[in-house]
Amino acid sequence: MALPNINPTETTSWKKLQEHFKTISDVHMKDLFAQDEERANKFTIKWDDFYVDYSKNRITEETLKYLLELADEVKLKEAINSQFSGEIINQTEGRAVLHMALRASESADFKVDGVNVMSEIYEVKKKIEKFTNEVVNGHRTGYTGKTFTDIVNIGIGGSDLGPAMVVDSLQYYKNHLTTHFVSNVDGDHVNEVIKKLNSETTLFVIVSKTFTTQETLSNANTIKSWFLKSAEESAIADHFVAVSTNIANVKAFGIDENNIFPMWDWVGGRFSLWSAVGLSISLSIGYNNFENLLKGAHKMDEHFKNEDFSQNIPVVLALISVWYNNFFKAESEAIIPYSQYLNQFATYLQQGIMESNGKSIDRNGNSIDYQTGTIIWGEPGTNAQHAFFQLIHQGTKLIPADFIGFAQSLHNNKDHQDKLMSNFFAQTEALLNGKTKAEVLAEGTAESLVPFKVFEGNKPTNTIFINRLSPESLGKLIAMYEHKIFVQGIIWNIFSYDQFGVELGKQLANKILHEFNNNADSAHDSSTQNLLNYYKGML
Ligand code: F6P
Repeated sequence: MALPNINPTETTSWKKLQEHFKTISDVHMKDLFAQDEERANKFTIKWDDFYVDYSKNRITEETLKYLLELADEVKLKEAINSQFSGEIINQTEGRAVLHMALRASESADFKVDGVNVMSEIYEVKKKIEKFTNEVVNGHRTGYTGKTFTDIVNIGIGGSDLGPAMVVDSLQYYKNHLTTHFVSNVDGDHVNEVIKKLNSETTLFVIVSKTFTTQETLSNANTIKSWFLKSAEESAIADHFVAVSTNIANVKAFGIDENNIFPMWDWVGGRFSLWSAVGLSISLSIGYNNFENLLKGAHKMDEHFKNEDFSQNIPVVLALISVWYNNFFKAESEAIIPYSQYLNQFATYLQQGIMESNGKSIDRNGNSIDYQTGTIIWGEPGTNAQHAFFQLIHQGTKLIPADFIGFAQSLHNNKDHQDKLMSNFFAQTEALLNGKTKAEVLAEGTAESLVPFKVFEGNKPTNTIFINRLSPESLGKLIAMYEHKIFVQGIIWNIFSYDQFGVELGKQLANKILHEFNNNADSAHDSSTQNLLNYYKGML
């Protein structure tokens, strides 16, 4: 069954939201809090070790009611069921979308083309477990018999960002192996990594769903050439493994069949860290921790699939985001984790959210006349406070922000943790309340400076407050955003799981590269032609 195909702007609830927006757009959240002392409780979802407070948003119970009606009108429940049933919901690529199966229990029933895929998944998981244990315990060695010290993940996009983010986020749980990531086709990237490596003790994991990606194959070839300067061809089998759906290309690269970790076309690249694409995660933090990451994501899957929409974290966050994007016309959303460990989290989400929902054609193939995917950006607090928070507090743009924090610090430094968390709580309070002219004057500010020191407030935030950063809680958090992406794609009536928008640039780059390699010319606009001439003149 195809996904529902409903223009959200033609629904009754959308029209209600448009009318309702007129009554809300100038309301200050401060007044909403003053009018209802139960507001914070009403707009908080407590689930497992997650405390999600979305009360500091420019919404009322009426807003939420209409947003929930919108979810019903676009048939969100049916769409969720279609996704979990393995229907071909990635219609433009003719594929099911089943990354949830990767984190389900072995007895689950996820079917693709009528065939339960759980046994295949568990076969690969067992292979990941065995391989991880052998490398970590030192039973598997390099070509000179030395144990491995370094892992290099070679991949890009979903074959890099997920594993890189998780390995960095969970470095507290890491073992003795040092993990590197090579992604950019910029040769300076791979060469800087190579500088740190010893060929005898490094394991290379080439990750490419298609095994055709220019960046990944270039980096893999450069690394292979470097490796073969000190090792025999036969040593490749000990040092190179691959994760891919394209077994033929992997073998052609020279990788031993036993060293191939398969994946499937029903796992989208940006949702693939749960598959063998996460091999470098498993190697870095150990298989049990990798399992716990999957376990957390699975718990969020169950919550998303079964919970009533009014208490459903991904659904509520997605609806609020639609409210800002389509009614307040907010262009971007900030993700601010109050954990240095989540340094790469916003970068990771940029691919997930913007590659999925950056679409302007609806599920009928028609141009869309409403806004879709939000621009995602962010950095960890408190660093972000000293960088771009000025604009969020006093700029002209409305930037809804997710504040993500953990009650316990991993290193148990109470002094630092209290300082960090005081900032975490203070910022959303400041963004909510602002500072009035009277308050500024009461501080003894000179009259001429008062306008500059007033904070309007009324800036929306969600607080996603979690007990502790662990593989399991990180799994829940990532899955929460994955489902938010899905919900928004359904509401906007777009296909979230293709990414044709990345193709044109690839095609033109290949054409230009062909010109470089063959000293050929072809037609370009005058700007591009001048730049090419300038570049050639510099060589
Ligand atoms: O950027 C486009 C894209 O296709 C992403 O969706 C994907 O994650 C990335 O390229 C890498 O693709 P592959 O894993 O096939 O090398």
